[in-house]
Amino acid sequence: MRTVKLPVHLALIMDGNGRWATRRLRPRAYGHKAGVQNMFRICGHAFHLGVRIVTVFALSAENLSRPQEELDELFDLFRTFFDKKKEKLLELNAKIHVIGDLSALPSDVQVSMRALEEETGGNTNALLNICVNYGARQDVLQAVNKAVSLGRFVDDESFHALLLTAGVPDPDLIIRTGNEMRLSNFLLYQAAYAELYFSSKMWPEFSRRDLEKALVDFSSRNRRFGGLRSKE
Ligand code: IPE
Ligand code: IPE
Ligand code: MG
Repeated sequence: MRTVKLPVHLALIMDGNGRWATRRLRPRAYGHKAGVQNMFRICGHAFHLGVRIVTVFALSAENLSRPQEELDELFDLFRTFFDKKKEKLLELNAKIHVIGDLSALPSDVQVSMRALEEETGGNTNALLNICVNYGARQDVLQAVNKAVSLGRFVDDESFHALLLTAGVPDPDLIIRTGNEMRLSNFLLYQAAYAELYFSSKMWPEFSRRDLEKALVDFSSRNRRFGGLRSKE
């Protein structure tokens, strides 16, 4: 992996938990639990390889339309991993930032998420953004409304500063698992020049080796940004 040019910012659409579980004749919640465990494995490996920023899509705004039973199971998982088993997140040694509208979450989960952000605020070597009840269009609209309320015109730079990802460089590589070729309302503005990589693996079975394959593939891409030569 030494000569591979790594993305500074890697974003992950962790899709396929439910199908992975259903194929094993297990409840969907079993897939979500395996999915969270794999998130630790893959984020840990990405940081270990030298990626500085990882953004994971944990729950979309549209996912709130799922049955309450599944949402409660997901909230329980957040409760576990942001509180009782928070050492798994602390082990990543990354600054943790939760992005999205947390008001839809149980209040104890909101409190533990904000507490973990505080606790990890001093970690400067790596950043883990966890998108929860996040939607890119919703984010663009709140940014537009903020600009309007401030009576300001915006340019690309000042618009970035109004988004929930303010201060974070755009993703260089977006990996989506679960055999779907779409962005599902993830980082739409920021993804303008992201390289996209789709894996047919379901998220719980996406391995460290699969991540390395995606990074090698990214490294071979010619990023022209509309110009004629790749940027080094
Ligand atoms: C992704 O897995 C995780 C969440 C959206 C919370 P899914 O739950 O979408 O799994 P599939 O796509 O139904 O298999
Ligand atoms: C995208 O997966 C959201 C997350 C991985 C959190 P979905 O399963 O919600 O996407 P669609 O509905 O198949 O587009
Ligand atoms: Mg899905």
